[in-house]
Amino acid sequence: MKLFSASVFLSMIAATSAQQGEYFNEIMIRDDAVHNSLFQSPLPHTYIDADDLPDSFSWGNVDGKSYLTKSLNQHIPQYCGSCWAHGALSSFADRIKIARKAQGDDINLSIQFILNCGTEAAGSCHGGYHTATYQFIQDTGYVPYDTCTPYLACSAESTDGFCGKIDTSCSALNTCKTCDTFGGMGGKCTEIDFFPNATVAEYGIVDYDSNDKEGVSHKIMSEIYSRGPVAATINAEPIVKYTGGIFTDENYSEQTNHIVSITGWGTDKESGTKFWIVRNSWGQYWGEMGYMRLEMGKNLLGIEGEIAWVVPGTYTNHNFACYEDGSNCVSHDTYVDPSNDLVAMKRRLTNDKKKNGNMRG
Ligand SMILES: *[C@@H]1O[C@H](CO)[C@@H](O)[C@H](O)[C@H]1NC(C)=O
Ligand SMILES: *[C@@H]1O[C@H](CO)[C@@H](O)[C@H](O)[C@H]1NC(C)=O
Ligand SMILES: *[C@@H]1O[C@H](CO)[C@@H](O)[C@H](O)[C@H]1NC(C)=O
Repeated sequence: MKLFSASVFLSMIAATSAQQGEYFNEIMIRDDAVHNSLFQSPLPHTYIDADDLPDSFSWGNVDGKSYLTKSLNQHIPQYCGSCWAHGALSSFADRIKIARKAQGDDINLSIQFILNCGTEAAGSCHGGYHTATYQFIQDTGYVPYDTCTPYLACSAESTDGFCGKIDTSCSALNTCKTCDTFGGMGGKCTEIDFFPNATVAEYGIVDYDSNDKEGVSHKIMSEIYSRGPVAATINAEPIVKYTGGIFTDENYSEQTNHIVSITGWGTDKESGTKFWIVRNSWGQYWGEMGYMRLEMGKNLLGIEGEIAWVVPGTYTNHNFACYEDGSNCVSHDTYVDPSNDLVAMKRRLTNDKKKNGNMRG
């Protein structure tokens, strides 16, 4: 079970670094990747009518409250092509935040754990894939919270910055650890065996049909509205110098090389143009505070072609002081999939419709 044979992998790095000034392709997909887990919950577009969806909807502002987790920057402390893990885990963490009604401290998931332990399965600083991240977490059984293993922007093959000097191999220490005091004072770092974590129940990719782009938009909007933000692929070349506004240029390739997340949509009052609200992982100094708006429904920059969704399983809500053997450390909440409560969904749609109606009237 290897992501790429070493020679193919290295030649890909060589080939891409040879093309100077071109955006490094951060999408790498294993031949044996499973893009859809087995799933039982109905897909949101099967129970939400296109006509019932609001003209604008953003998880960044639902009745004045944000359900989005923090903006990220994959490129520091040194360059790392881990967009795929950022897009996948940001939308995963948002969905947990939505389930928790934005109460309490946000749960931030560990991207570095994926880089340490998912190098073969999900990806590295030289590229990976969103559904592969969910597949890896489902197979492994957990992703720790980031207070266990903070982001270092390194994976085993990376030699940039300080990456050559640290150990990012997969181990218990590189899954969750703590250090008790300065080394000079006899301190040491030890693994934590039971730690707060989240699990994946189901994941998948939204079917794309180039002959039914409206249908595709309906599927994506329903998924976002019902369950939360999604991860998406994009052609990053044309957005490197994006400085704001609704991106509508149709002259660029749908060939994708980067992964972002979509957190909602809107409709421009003047032009009537519908757009996606896209969150990047290049820091808040890029675009519109780390976000961009991109015209909906035309698969611009390949944004609608490979949309990934995840349904969380459980997430740790409480930890007890651990016994020496690590038992009895943590308890959890079980995620309730909105796809399994259609009465509540109808109520939300009706309420939003009423609100929109009131605003117009
Ligand atoms: C998660 O990140 C946000 C933003 O930095 C922060 O406010 C929050 O406290 C973090 N959660 C935890 C548990 O550290
Ligand atoms: C993950 O968290 C759950 C509770 O949410 C806990 O039962 C389980 O032991 C944790 N797994 C690890 C490896 O710590
Ligand atoms: C796309 O290219 C055509 C022809 O080169 C040009 O007329 C048009 O303005 C371009 N579209 C945008 C949105 O820039």
